[in-house]
Amino acid sequence: MHHLRILLVATFLFVLFCLTQYDTPTFFFRGHRVKPPPHASAIIARCRQLHVQAGPPEDFHTRTHSDRFEEGSTRPVLIQNAKIWTGRKNGTHVIHADILLDKGLIKSIGHLRGSAAQLQLEYGKELVVVDAKGAWVTPGIVDIHSHLGDAASPALDGAEDDNSLKGTIQPWLQSLDGLNTHDDSYPLSIAGGVTTSLILPGSANAIGGQAFVIKLRETKEKSPSSMLLEPPYHINTSFPNPNLPPRWRHMKHACGDVYKDTRMDTIWAFRQAYNTAKQIKQRQDEYCSRALSRDWANLGEFPEVLQWEALVDVLRGRVKVNTHCYEAVDLDGLVRLSNEFKFPIAAFHHASEAYLVPDLLKKAYGKPPAIALFATNARYKREAYRASEFAPRILAEEGLTSDHPVLNSRYLLYEAQQAHFYGLPENSAIASVTSNSAEVMGMGHRIGYIKEDLVIWDSHPLALGATPSQVFIDGIAQLESPYVITKPENFQKSPRVPNFDDEARKAVTYEGLPPLVPKKMPLDSTVIFKNVKSIHVVKKGIVEQMYSAQAATEFATVVSHNGSIACYGDEQKCMSSKILDGANAFVIDLEGGSLSPGLVTYGSPVGLQHIDQEASTNDGNVYDPLRKAIPNILGGDSAIIRAADGLQFASRDALLAYRSGVTLAVTAPSHQRFLAGLGTSFSLSVSHKLEEGAIIQETTALHVSVRHFPKLSVSTQIAALRRLLLGTSAGALGEWFGKVKTGEIPLVVEAHSADIIATLVILKQEVEAQTRKPMRLTISGGAEAHLLAKELGEAHVGVILNPSRPFPYVWEDRRILPGPPVSKNSAIMELISNNVVVGIGCEEIWSARNLPFDIAWAAIESGGRLGKEEAFAIGSTNLLKLLGVELDDAKLDLVASRGADSFGFDSKVVSVLSPRQNSVHIFEEEHI
Ligand SMILES: *[C@@H]1O[C@H](CO)[C@@H](O)[C@H](O)[C@H]1NC(C)=O
Ligand SMILES: *[C@@H]1O[C@H](CO)[C@@H](O)[C@H](O)[C@H]1NC(C)=O
Ligand SMILES: *[C@@H]1O[C@H](CO)[C@@H](O)[C@H](O)[C@H]1NC(C)=O
Repeated sequence: MHHLRILLVATFLFVLFCLTQYDTPTFFFRGHRVKPPPHASAIIARCRQLHVQAGPPEDFHTRTHSDRFEEGSTRPVLIQNAKIWTGRKNGTHVIHADILLDKGLIKSIGHLRGSAAQLQLEYGKELVVVDAKGAWVTPGIVDIHSHLGDAASPALDGAEDDNSLKGTIQPWLQSLDGLNTHDDSYPLSIAGGVTTSLILPGSANAIGGQAFVIKLRETKEKSPSSMLLEPPYHINTSFPNPNLPPRWRHMKHACGDVYKDTRMDTIWAFRQAYNTAKQIKQRQDEYCSRALSRDWANLGEFPEVLQWEALVDVLRGRVKVNTHCYEAVDLDGLVRLSNEFKFPIAAFHHASEAYLVPDLLKKAYGKPPAIALFATNARYKREAYRASEFAPRILAEEGLTSDHPVLNSRYLLYEAQQAHFYGLPENSAIASVTSNSAEVMGMGHRIGYIKEDLVIWDSHPLALGATPSQVFIDGIAQLESPYVITKPENFQKSPRVPNFDDEARKAVTYEGLPPLVPKKMPLDSTVIFKNVKSIHVVKKGIVEQMYSAQAATEFATVVSHNGSIACYGDEQKCMSSKILDGANAFVIDLEGGSLSPGLVTYGSPVGLQHIDQEASTNDGNVYDPLRKAIPNILGGDSAIIRAADGLQFASRDALLAYRSGVTLAVTAPSHQRFLAGLGTSFSLSVSHKLEEGAIIQETTALHVSVRHFPKLSVSTQIAALRRLLLGTSAGALGEWFGKVKTGEIPLVVEAHSADIIATLVILKQEVEAQTRKPMRLTISGGAEAHLLAKELGEAHVGVILNPSRPFPYVWEDRRILPGPPVSKNSAIMELISNNVVVGIGCEEIWSARNLPFDIAWAAIESGGRLGKEEAFAIGSTNLLKLLGVELDDAKLDLVASRGADSFGFDSKVVSVLSPRQNSVHIFEEEHI
């Protein structure tokens, strides 16, 4: 018995021992009677915080200075007499007023002029007074999709930090960790009015990582962290202040055509990741529900996993999820995911098919995601093939983005301008790059409105070429001695954009692929253009004004027959001309529009590709003899390829360019390195090569590239050129280089670096010394050509600037001439004023359509120094000259535009007169 009792006691003690070790509280004191742990209040605070919505603290709006205020570098500024787009009232609120900036904030807006004296008293000599002279002021431009600082400009091998290729799901990565503070893009984008960007990881992963909002200005501290706008508290040791609501976090997702994965893989990867996060969240919620009911028994530590904490925060609705997602199939997948795991999607980016599936978007969890788009950058892969320039006007809520450096974010406002041109209302267009983007980022309390940052513009912000005359970020002026152009009065108003209702409707009806081939008037038909304000034609290779009306009463009538002008001028006179006898004439009212030379596109593989990233739609690259031997069947090293042999007609980009007044193309064979081959010139309006007028000139110039290619030295490329030009070379290649030597055809060299261009000039002189004949050399690319403007002019070397507004993509084009407001001259003007024949090129096939804007922009940016004729020339006759196209003046197309006699935002191309095809082509079917 005694033994038994001892045994029982022992057992009891043993059990007690075990329980104290493992499970004591439950056994002895159930639930809340457990003594709270020492850090109980911290646990409670943390648990309470889990349910607090992200956003600014309540007292934010009464702040007296910005947390980004920099003592010493920030003086108070009074901007007088501004026309302010405030972003309020759905973007319709515009006031004429003064603005006071102080302590990193916009302190007040109103009629402060009367109190200027008082402000002077208050601030003393510190106060900077700026007279805006009635100029437009908008909030700083906000880019909701950028890789600035992570994807380097200039790009260098050791500096590509926007894509990790280590996995499909990586919510733990942070774009902040790759943010380089020395990127050339910061000052350039600021020069375009961009003040804030959301820096997203790239789209090589389904979950690419966390994104961060930065302001673009350089800070005193000069660190990436100090550029962040309201970063989450935990980015450094300032870990959560439980008394404040959390700050918005941002994350990148990508679906569809993502690195290596199929769509099925990607969505499963998402579901697996979200399921992991969901389980952690459930454990946290259970933990917190016990903690908040003081159930401390055996509670342990707050369950968290560092890798997944950001994704758990997504499920808590504290992260703005920015999803790169193009097609209906992908949008659908993400909408289902958002409902399965109950998290909102802030925005779908790129979303080229969003405008086709509005009902699907409404089904996303929470509220419909915003849509972030490009204006006209499209069709570069299948996913973007159905993208439409009319999407912004069709969708209700959107932002326009740069995806910098995909598009140079310096020109983000241009995206809004184009969207406006195609029908997005003015208020929404400006909002799409200011207040909308800010709201989508959860930053509307600071940016996107007149609160912290602003831009003073030299014109209405939606006028083509609008350029900042000053940019303030956190109250600090960013442009040191800006060059400001005085623009004509009509640039101070919103452009009177044409009507594209019919085209927009068709974009939807045809699910993004409306028919684009123009209606061609039959042989022998007469088309009459009424109310023509001006006519420009080409005579002896020079663009000339043939007619110009001073007033509406003088608008001309133009009678065309077989695609050529038969008569122009007075209506009475032309209508009675014998051409009209018995003819059933078709009449087009140009409403004060114009006839002008058809433009020429060069530089992209237009005619050799339909969809850039889809190899099966493209002609492909030629062999490069400097990299490997060319097969004998082609003639070995002496082979030469002709672009004409690979032509594919009627790509959507070609037809869209045609509809914008770009009627001819010159294209070199697609190539990766040194040797391209023989260029060709063709019409953008035809359906196949056998159609009348399809080929304009079968072979034009000989094309090569001399660049800093990987594994191929520049000196090697020059050595090859020298041998081909000065040595004796046999075969077809030798024959064509023979024609180059004697100046029969031009040599077009793609070169960007001033050093390479200088070497080419010397080589030209060597050839000419040998042949005693002028050699025709054209540089294309030419980012640094302006550095040699004088020498190029003297050496009679022409330049095709491509892009026309240069950007420092890589080292060899880093020394660009940025143009206003950074430099007085644009690269175009610097070259032209040194007697260089200048043409402007196009980089990718989708942008061929924008050439009319590019030439108009060049003229605007010149401040009146580039006349209308010369502006047409850089987009037409100069290109023909520089590229070796010889075309009878009478065979050049004329473009008929309605609404205004300029290639700006206030006219619309409605027809092309094509003498080569004996026809007038008409774009608006309802007019037939
Ligand atoms: C805001 O403006 C757009 C475009 O003008 C319009 O379609 C929309 O209905 C407006 N929204 C509100 C809430 O008024
Ligand atoms: C943490 O980051 C914030 C935001 O950039 C900054 O204001 C703060 O000074 C940083 N704190 C430390 C300790 O680095
Ligand atoms: C129009 O072109 C056709 C075909 O070249 C030709 O037969 C006809 O005579 C032309 N008409 C005029 C008036 O030139």
